[in-house]
Amino acid sequence: PKFDTVVINGVLVSASDVSSNCIGIKDGKITVLAERFSDDDLRGAEVIDAEGAYVMPGGVDGHVHLCQDLQTGPHGLGGRCADDFLTGSRSAMCGGTTTIITFATQTRSEPDRSLLGVVGRYKARADATGSYIDYGFHVIIVRDDGDVLEEEMPRLVSEWGITSCKLFLTYETQRLSDKQLLNVMYEARKNRITTMIHAENGDAIEWLTDKLEERNKIAPYYHAWSRPPAVEGEATNRAIALAELIQNPILFVHIGSALAMKNVRKAQTRGLPVYAETCPQYFNLTWNDLKKFHDPSCFENSKMICSPPPPPDASDADELYLGLHNGTFTIFSSDHCPFRYDDPHGKPTGVLEHAESMTGEPEPESCLDGHALCDLVSRKTGAFKFIPNGIPGVETRLPLLYTTALQTGRISPQKFVELTSTNPAKLYGLYPRKGSLMPGADADIIIWHPDHSFVPFSLTNDRLHHNVDYTPYEGQQFTNWPRYTLSRGQVVYRNGQITGKVGYGQYLKRGQSQLATAQGRKQDPRRVADWLYE
Ligand code: URP
Ligand code: ZN
Ligand code: ZN
Ligand code: ZN
Repeated sequence: PKFDTVVINGVLVSASDVSSNCIGIKDGKITVLAERFSDDDLRGAEVIDAEGAYVMPGGVDGHVHLCQDLQTGPHGLGGRCADDFLTGSRSAMCGGTTTIITFATQTRSEPDRSLLGVVGRYKARADATGSYIDYGFHVIIVRDDGDVLEEEMPRLVSEWGITSCKLFLTYETQRLSDKQLLNVMYEARKNRITTMIHAENGDAIEWLTDKLEERNKIAPYYHAWSRPPAVEGEATNRAIALAELIQNPILFVHIGSALAMKNVRKAQTRGLPVYAETCPQYFNLTWNDLKKFHDPSCFENSKMICSPPPPPDASDADELYLGLHNGTFTIFSSDHCPFRYDDPHGKPTGVLEHAESMTGEPEPESCLDGHALCDLVSRKTGAFKFIPNGIPGVETRLPLLYTTALQTGRISPQKFVELTSTNPAKLYGLYPRKGSLMPGADADIIIWHPDHSFVPFSLTNDRLHHNVDYTPYEGQQFTNWPRYTLSRGQVVYRNGQITGKVGYGQYLKRGQSQLATAQGRKQDPRRVADWLYE
């Protein structure tokens, strides 16, 4: 047969066009776009009738945590990701995502000094279960060992196709000082590795946390008070200044406030190569939702804790939507960071002894199992600073944005595709293999339901395919959901049923970023530090 599969009667949406075309798929690739296919064309092919619904390139989620121990608390305390590559990729594909980029994390412990070693260990974790869909890695770099950076960064690119790294300005065991940040960004820039920055001022957070604890404000809700928008505002400005100093393109991950977004916009207007990601939680949750389950004797609102936290009220979201529309934001990712609620390695569920202050406490000791976090939780407190940061959302990312932004007219269908698929593919060196419906691209495709025939529903966690026992979006109305997900030509999800196979997903060696480059207008010669790169 001419095609293995064809998609007919769809409204194709790319980052630039909306068109009524059919798609012909052969050997996992899109081979033909045509206004119509003849009977001859269709012979022997599986025909998928989109019934007038939108057909888009599959989602590319550039920010997913799987199989990771996250150290978001003091003393390196953290939690264990609830999703591995099996459950995480399954959840992604059931929400229309066909590519995920996950994190391989260096730590400050000696065995994790080598970035190549870390990547090898994370690859083994992925291989242990396999993935339903294609995946790649970013590295997280938490130290500035000159020898490691110099020797290993070129090999990350050539041997692994890893062309992006994430750096932190917060979290005790991950944050880099300004000098360390310059060191790492400098090496990254020399290797054309895209620098992703988690921009929160760690000192400001620690200081505010101390002040809150002195006032016994340690319940989960106060996590947000320890991270008001100014914390992100300061860190974005500082990172922009340091990146400009050495002419390094940067991408801010998970921007969660209008204040930080405006800093990004200002830098972009000055012509600096500054890019930004934002995530569903900053549009759909507020401090009010942190309070939703608020009860001083219970931990339940630990479910909503993530960093940066959701903004204080919906006024931020209004401005953030504008940033999606006007190009300030380059990508829209999930920051899926799954912790179970009923798990000692997840969000604490014990009873909070809220009257106690944390100050003057001795250093934590390990519990019998050797888990310092368990010990702290059972012994004393679920104070917010010990609660692992992060919430799940890889499956809800696309349908939430479809419901709240596309169908409401806040963004166009093309912008939807740009933010969720095409730009992340370009940014992370996967375009045009991913993020495109052009002939030659991988046949990674989502087909939505026709809007008019979809019965809106209110989300319950049992509909989702992650390994998390809650969703922050419980009860939220959805007015569409992906009906089919195709990964390299195979239908992996159809009408609510999983039809893919774990282990089918391939590791993606990525190329250089096609977006985060220092291109654009020539820089002011007074600021140029060309000598650094001679
Ligand atoms: O709270 C969050 N975002 N947890 C995940 C780790 C990170 O910083 O992205
Ligand atoms: Zn982060
Ligand atoms: Zn994250
Ligand atoms: Zn334990």
